[in-house]
Amino acid sequence: KFEKIWLTFGIGCLVIFLSVVGVSAFYLGNKPASCLTTINSEKVDQTKPFDKPGLHKVEGKEWDYELVFVASTFSYNPAQVKLPLGAKVKVIATTKDVIHGFEMAGTNINMMLEPGYVSEYTTTFDKTGEYLVVCNEYCGSGHHLMSAKIEVV
Ligand code: CUA
Repeated sequence: KFEKIWLTFGIGCLVIFLSVVGVSAFYLGNKPASCLTTINSEKVDQTKPFDKPGLHKVEGKEWDYELVFVASTFSYNPAQVKLPLGAKVKVIATTKDVIHGFEMAGTNINMMLEPGYVSEYTTTFDKTGEYLVVCNEYCGSGHHLMSAKIEVV
């Protein structure tokens, strides 16, 4: 008899817990802090700023440049970027198809690019050199080929 009560109690707790998680995830829109903006992943090319991938100088913002990346199976656009030393850059990235990673070797930039979400990270490049951007989410047969190069000069 007590077992039945405890079983009911246990299942009740599980249901409550799952609904709290579900409500916060889907209804309140809880997402990782790096992907606050949502876009239509089928219209990436027509959506600002992804209609113009690459490096853009900006005025009147806390950062000097915006570096826009569009990932798609199995490449990044742009594949190569040159940055001036000391530039404060806001990296803005998304994916056109499946989930890709965006890890910049040798820095603390490591983002997950999800379809329909915009991932952003602002950083200052204060060391010269070449930084390799790689995909760290398995995305298919060409996963290991996905890379981009950022050159700081
Ligand atoms: Cu893209 Cu792995």
